[in-house]
Amino acid sequence: MRTAPVDIGGAIVPNNVFCAPLAGYTDFAFRRLCYSYGAGLCFTEMVSAKGLKYNSEATRALLHRHPSERDTAVQIFGSDPDVMRAACESEDLADFSVVDINMGCPVPKVFKNGEGSALLGDMPLAEKIISACKKSGKRICVKFRTGISEDKKVTAEFAKMCEGAGADLITVHGRTRDKYYSGEPDYREIAAAKRAVKIPVIANGGIFSDADAEKMIAETGADGVMVARAALYDPHIFAELTGKDAPRDIKRDVLDEIEDMLPFYGEKFTLVQMRKMTAFYTKGLRGSAEYRKRLFAADSISALYAIIEEIFPE
Ligand SMILES: Cc1cc2nc3c(=O)[nH]c(=O)nc-3n(C[C@H](O)[C@H](O)[C@H](O)COP(=O)(O)O)c2cc1C
Repeated sequence: MRTAPVDIGGAIVPNNVFCAPLAGYTDFAFRRLCYSYGAGLCFTEMVSAKGLKYNSEATRALLHRHPSERDTAVQIFGSDPDVMRAACESEDLADFSVVDINMGCPVPKVFKNGEGSALLGDMPLAEKIISACKKSGKRICVKFRTGISEDKKVTAEFAKMCEGAGADLITVHGRTRDKYYSGEPDYREIAAAKRAVKIPVIANGGIFSDADAEKMIAETGADGVMVARAALYDPHIFAELTGKDAPRDIKRDVLDEIEDMLPFYGEKFTLVQMRKMTAFYTKGLRGSAEYRKRLFAADSISALYAIIEEIFPE
């Protein structure tokens, strides 16, 4: 696709191919990989504003950054405007100049708390949250869906509200909460959001190839795309979409990720995470089903290294 820089409230991001926030996946090691293949901007996974308020160590670990990392955006979620603003102003977020607010998460635990996609049904509260966060002085992005249910889509109206409340950029995931992650994205709704506002609009949903990205831009007029699940299977998709000359080397990527993770997470969590990631990355390789079985049986980092050597012999 044709790339272009994106202006987020005066901060220029090098290109308009973003890596989505993905809970359980988009940590510092994975983001480094995505940047190396050309992603213009990566996001942390969703971080609870309440978790930060109550000093949760597990929540804080999600904010860890790679020493080489550029200006990654942090995504926060919550439903209390004061708590959300306090999170933006906290020391924890001092290193992040761009804050993304999650207004799309469909998960019942989040939805029932009035957070994530529940805010699509309470526009006045969503507006209060955005303007409270804006008062922190951070650049504010909002990521939302087209509505809670298929019979009540609110995309353009919600986009306008975000802009009016001070958002510097919006990302529209072209599906309703009811649809979770299935089905085609609703191009018409994303296009309506794009027409409704002047701030940059990033389109998300169902982008698994350069052709998908081209189609998304052509159908919606959006300023850029955000890739989510496709990046888990193949972070090289960022090179495909941006044209960056960065050949894929899965073995090197896996070994680099392990090396990044070990000192921060320790062996136990690194093993759990990298069994999962390696299984994603090797999907589609010859014999991958058998490798997956063996990967999940690996009970130490050295067993994991041994399987990696077998999958990718020199
Ligand atoms: C495992 C998983 C975790 C996700 N975590 C988040 C998250 O933390 N924050 C968020 O805004 N969206 C999250 N999403 C939604 C994605 O960012 C994205 O909007 C969605 O997957 C649609 O894009 P895709 O069709 O390219 O996968 C998650 C999706 C998946 C599958």
